[in-house]
Amino acid sequence: MEKYPGKKNIAVFISGRGSNLRSLIKYSKKKNSLIKIKLTVSNNPNAEGLKYAFKSKIKTYGIKFKNKSNFEKNVLKLLKKNNIDIVCLAGFMKILSGSFIRKFSRPILNIHPSLLPKYKGLNTHERAIKNKDKFAGASVHKVTEKLDSGKVILQKKVKILKSDNVKILEKKVLKVEHEIYPKAIDKFLTNL
Ligand code: GAR
Repeated sequence: MEKYPGKKNIAVFISGRGSNLRSLIKYSKKKNSLIKIKLTVSNNPNAEGLKYAFKSKIKTYGIKFKNKSNFEKNVLKLLKKNNIDIVCLAGFMKILSGSFIRKFSRPILNIHPSLLPKYKGLNTHERAIKNKDKFAGASVHKVTEKLDSGKVILQKKVKILKSDNVKILEKKVLKVEHEIYPKAIDKFLTNL
């Protein structure tokens, strides 16, 4: 039997621009999509992405991150109240605690701008260029208590050209991120 029948209720967590959020909203509106985005949460009340979600009639919550345990407590309440099945981190720049991950007890996915397991953490493009890598890319993975280390669901490469700088590479990888996050969600939900 299918473990996740019907459309899944999704909460997207962001910290800023929200271009991945936009691509997920676009995907969620497709007839055959497997998800419904019920809410967007940000640790930054001024996050640009919240405006887009609001315009798209998605409930938005900007919750100041003064204290991690308070933030997580409030967010857990929201997730429960909205019957959220899956959390998708999309440019969410805070690290969720093990206690949050255990208490939520449903899947949390993340998009990371590198070919994991390479370059966990920050400044991924800078490091790829500095190391003269031939490829960079993006990965969608399950979130576990160990940073950027959960099982990879989908990843896609882009070629690094000699002329690429961090800004150019970021743009190339971001394009791939927008493509693979919806696909990874589909894959995750159909392969359970
Ligand atoms: C994206 O490149 C995402 O992969 C990255 O932040 C950017 C957010 O852009 N996430 C991380 O680095 C998480 N460690 P967006 O707000 O336009 O989606």
